[in-house]
Amino acid sequence: MVILGIETSCDETACGIVESVGPGQPMRLLSNAVLSSMDLQAVYGGVVPEIAARSHIEAIIPVIQQALNEAFPTLGGRTSKSDKLWNNIDGISVTYGAGLSGSLLVGVMTARTLAITKSKPLYAINHVEAHIYANFITEIAASSQLSAISYQLPAATPQFPMLGLIVSGGHSQLVLWRNHFDYTLLGQTQDDAIGEAFDKVAKILGLPYPGGPRIEELAKQGDPFAFKFPKAKMPGISPALAELRRVKRGERREEKPELQPLHSSLSTLPSPPTHGYDYSFSGPKTAVLRAAQELIGETHEFASYKLAERLSEAQKANIAASFQRIAVETVVDKTMLAYEEFKPKSVVIGGGVASSPELRRQLADRLPIEISYTDRKLCTDNGAMIAVLGCFKAMLGQPKADPYSLGIAPNLSM
Ligand code: KG4
Ligand code: ZN
Repeated sequence: MVILGIETSCDETACGIVESVGPGQPMRLLSNAVLSSMDLQAVYGGVVPEIAARSHIEAIIPVIQQALNEAFPTLGGRTSKSDKLWNNIDGISVTYGAGLSGSLLVGVMTARTLAITKSKPLYAINHVEAHIYANFITEIAASSQLSAISYQLPAATPQFPMLGLIVSGGHSQLVLWRNHFDYTLLGQTQDDAIGEAFDKVAKILGLPYPGGPRIEELAKQGDPFAFKFPKAKMPGISPALAELRRVKRGERREEKPELQPLHSSLSTLPSPPTHGYDYSFSGPKTAVLRAAQELIGETHEFASYKLAERLSEAQKANIAASFQRIAVETVVDKTMLAYEEFKPKSVVIGGGVASSPELRRQLADRLPIEISYTDRKLCTDNGAMIAVLGCFKAMLGQPKADPYSLGIAPNLSM
């Protein structure tokens, strides 16, 4: 099964191709073409939706062609030979949400057109879910142009139950998968996504977009304990988590029904946990702003865009290191609680922030099981992860999308 995945939900125009012979078999990467409009966006300090959409229109066809050429180098790289290349593709998958409307439309309309004209089945993909599926790529196809040494891949396929932490510029979610396509959203950010918080703190420190990698660099010179930024305590649990706990408790009660009458077995069960898994990043972000204002002896009215020029390099490095530690601890604390409660066989991470060495270090230090990480190139937005989820959908008989009517879902949740 060879699937071509198209991704255009934000500022990366991407197309990847993967191959697998069955759900339990290795997932091989054949190509991973990504073109970012980040350089065009950087001058504005963030993604401008109109610029992103226009760039996708210009880039989408060349990027798809590049992915096909990279995957099947021996079949030639000319558009005239395009049919030969397409004969190798068994299906197309495309991100239809969540994301920017104009950007999503370019990918979805392209995928719909190709599905019709090339007579391929079409699979609609949730971008957030797909970030986790990047972890299922464990091999590079020998026949492709990709070099195996340029990708650091997990040695083994993740096992279920699987705990997935999605940490990107637009999303911060903790999800428990019982199996493919069977999962519960345990918790998520109630305000900024973690990557967004990194980007905003970077802006305060005068660093360009995207801020995460710049904070990572600057933090190397700083003291992570110089500032005690607060970690938000989020009360409440989501209805999905409440239901999961109810079912889990019910299952336990049914394990040995013959041993005890229902009322006495219930009374001996430990009470279910009462904590939730939501988190927040607006508190620590505001704490950074206040700390910076106080460091230069100004009031809370002092404009944030003027702070960077008044802070010393050492102060900026300490803020970067302390914020990075706290932001990462926030999600790792919740991951640890979920690990204790659900005892998953695998813990995986996905999204741009998953490439953070601090996140990788904290998880490896605290989790009692081995955690393997995928290549940094597969953490940020890419088409390969869209292809992987499409490939599982195709192999496991999930519903196909209608190429004549598939729409976009900018606010799609999990
Ligand atoms: O997954 P992604 O490419 O796009 C979204 O779907 O949002 O993630 C981009 C985000 C940006 O906010 C960027 O600052 C953050 O990932 N990021 C990092 C690091 N590398 C990228 N954040 C913290 N540390 C990093 N090393
Ligand atoms: Zn993403």
